[in-house]
Amino acid sequence: MGLIQPTPSLADMIQAVRNAGSSHEEFFGYPVREDGLHLQQDPTEYASFVHFMATEVPAADLTLEIGIASGGQTKFLRDYWHARRTMVLDIGQHQVFPQWKRIKQSLNSDLILEIIDDSHSPKVREQLLPHAGKVDFAFVDGDHSYRGLKQDIFLTKELLRPGGLMVLHDTAAVGDCKKVFDELLFSSDFALLRNFQYRFGISVWKMIRVKRMPNAFNRMTGWGRI
Ligand SMILES: C[S@@+](CC[C@H](N)C(=O)[O-])C[C@H]1O[C@@H](n2cnc3c(N)ncnc32)[C@H](O)[C@@H]1O
Repeated sequence: MGLIQPTPSLADMIQAVRNAGSSHEEFFGYPVREDGLHLQQDPTEYASFVHFMATEVPAADLTLEIGIASGGQTKFLRDYWHARRTMVLDIGQHQVFPQWKRIKQSLNSDLILEIIDDSHSPKVREQLLPHAGKVDFAFVDGDHSYRGLKQDIFLTKELLRPGGLMVLHDTAAVGDCKKVFDELLFSSDFALLRNFQYRFGISVWKMIRVKRMPNAFNRMTGWGRI
């Protein structure tokens, strides 16, 4: 694992995101770089989030990413914030997913588990359960449907340690994700720590307690209180 980059100013962090390259110039507003990170993030919003992580969140031991696409976000964050170990989970069908094979070579973290499968499959949960209650940080950006995202949150809830952080993407831009965001505001187990909302919405939630552990019905259907 390499050294963590010194935290730049927010303006320089925004430039670093732009330099890393998006996966679609017209949609994201900055160029695609073939040998870049193929990010699916808004530069100002994402740079603000990474700056927050680098300056306000202590180093993590165990982290999880659900929905990595190219894995560019997984890499960029870990260049500025120390995550000792990383697990990734993606169904592997995104057009930029083939980039992950290259990008993971320079991941600044020990990649201890890589699951290329549907996050809602019971056998995926079985693979992750040995880490239940031990995950410090989870970035959840996979299925964007209401039930699919809630299934991912139920899974994340089993894996996070109390006090661990869960980050959701698109909680401002995608109707179903916004609906889940609104529900989470009433959760007794998660508290909104920060909300970076310039375009897509990156919300950071702290799991303050586990009063309500997900059951089989929650996991299978995506229904029920978080
Ligand atoms: C919006 S992209 C993720 C973008 C990425 N986090 C970034 O910031 O660049 C969503 C990803 O989730 C994956 N995905 C969607 N549904 C999934 C599921 N049920 N299980 C696992 N991965 C899923 C897609 O294949 C895609 O790679």
